[in-house]
Amino acid sequence: MLKRGSVLELTVEKVADRGMSLTRIDGYVVFIPGGIPGDKLSVRIRRAKKKFAEAVVLEVIEASPDRIEPRCSHFGTCGGCKWQHMTYSAQLEAKRQSVEDALHRQGGLTDLKVENVIGAATLFRYRNKMEFSFSAERWLTTEEIGSGRPVDKSFALGLHVPGNFAKVLDLRECHLHSEEGERLLNRIRLLAREKAWEPWHIRNHTGYLRHLVLRNAANTDDFMVNLVTNGFDEEKIGEFAAILKEEFPSVTTLVNTINTGVAQTAFGEKIHTIYGPGTIKDKIGRFTFEIAPNAFFQTNTHQAENLYRVAASFADLKKTDHVYDLYSGAGTISIYIAEQVRQVTGVELIEAATQNARQNASANGIKNVSFVTGDMMKVFRDDFIEQHGRPDVLIVDPPRAGMHPKVVDQIIRLRPERFVYVSCNPISQAKDLSLLADTFEIEAVQPVDLFPHTYHIENVVKLRARKHST
Ligand SMILES: C[S@@+](CC[C@H](N)C(=O)[O-])C[C@H]1O[C@@H](n2cnc3c(N)ncnc32)[C@H](O)[C@@H]1O
Repeated sequence: MLKRGSVLELTVEKVADRGMSLTRIDGYVVFIPGGIPGDKLSVRIRRAKKKFAEAVVLEVIEASPDRIEPRCSHFGTCGGCKWQHMTYSAQLEAKRQSVEDALHRQGGLTDLKVENVIGAATLFRYRNKMEFSFSAERWLTTEEIGSGRPVDKSFALGLHVPGNFAKVLDLRECHLHSEEGERLLNRIRLLAREKAWEPWHIRNHTGYLRHLVLRNAANTDDFMVNLVTNGFDEEKIGEFAAILKEEFPSVTTLVNTINTGVAQTAFGEKIHTIYGPGTIKDKIGRFTFEIAPNAFFQTNTHQAENLYRVAASFADLKKTDHVYDLYSGAGTISIYIAEQVRQVTGVELIEAATQNARQNASANGIKNVSFVTGDMMKVFRDDFIEQHGRPDVLIVDPPRAGMHPKVVDQIIRLRPERFVYVSCNPISQAKDLSLLADTFEIEAVQPVDLFPHTYHIENVVKLRARKHST
């Protein structure tokens, strides 16, 4: 076991969960944030436990061939990107390995081939949504503290630093969102400071400005600004709107979400449309989707299409099929596949998303889809199946936590011939797959990268009902 504070040299072996890297010293695991496989590093042990330690990098003695210069000046402090300092090919391999590890470790599924990740063609400016926070407590970087220069700590607009929910890093650039988004971020900060509008104080629950949510479309020119404030102030939002209209004609709609609660969320009790339609439209394939301020929509539009394409091809869709699209959100998968099948039935928890799904279906002239609002755990029972009919194909795309065991049990009893499991969390997916293993055989595992420079990955698994369930 290593001691806290000790300094040593090591070579990074592989990537680990949540964007960390690790190396093993006589079986003892050392986690190193910021390391890249192949890096020779000098590190200091920050935390030492019985089975593992955590180290901080003091110096890169010999860089891995996969180490590159990060593009963003905030890299290392901001929690948004973990891998900007790693070549994209190494990122993709790290993601493939993370899926394989999850299947092995969490699912006990050892003999599966995980295909090479389908990478993104656009590595920067790919996000169609960014949620920034205002805070009366600014996070000071090590350089700012070291410089000795006075810094105003009472205002920040940016992202929360990892592990600190009160303090916000004052972000000047973000290469994941659009250039227009970056310009807006900096102009809105300046405006708020000029007008002396108070940022939200997370501990005291005071202040006016809470969040700035930017949503742009990848395949249309629509752009939404959603200013989340503690209460409605007609004069302030009027001044805000006037500046946007004058200086940012690219912004097609401004909404003002009111959140007077203490929870640190961009959702609120009321949404005022200040100008424009209050929604934006984007396209996936040849389908147009209307997106409300709080609607779930995959954050990388181009790669969402690749994700849906894989899901559809894994489902081997036939014109006679009835498909269940479970956890259907705004109905994007249902609508994407509708013309290839006889009928799609979606289930989604959030009523607003279901309404959005129905509107989207109707706006695209799709008639063979229907959506049910409800919690899967409560809705997905025998009477639901009796009412809607047995599906030929099941497509599920649950949230990060995965599926409730009751839902898994129902899928086992239902035993559809074809089954596609889409997930944004290979760990919860692997746990679910281990429960399903006796009933379904896994035929293919295809990760798709929607989030370059982060450790996040979408994974699509193709399952088939076993001929004789054991
Ligand atoms: C990862 S999103 C998938 C959305 C959609 N398939 C897409 O690609 O846009 C997961 C969806 O599951 C919904 N959800 C979460 N928990 C649920 C539950 N218990 N029952 C039904 N839907 C749920 C969320 O509201 C969200 O829309």
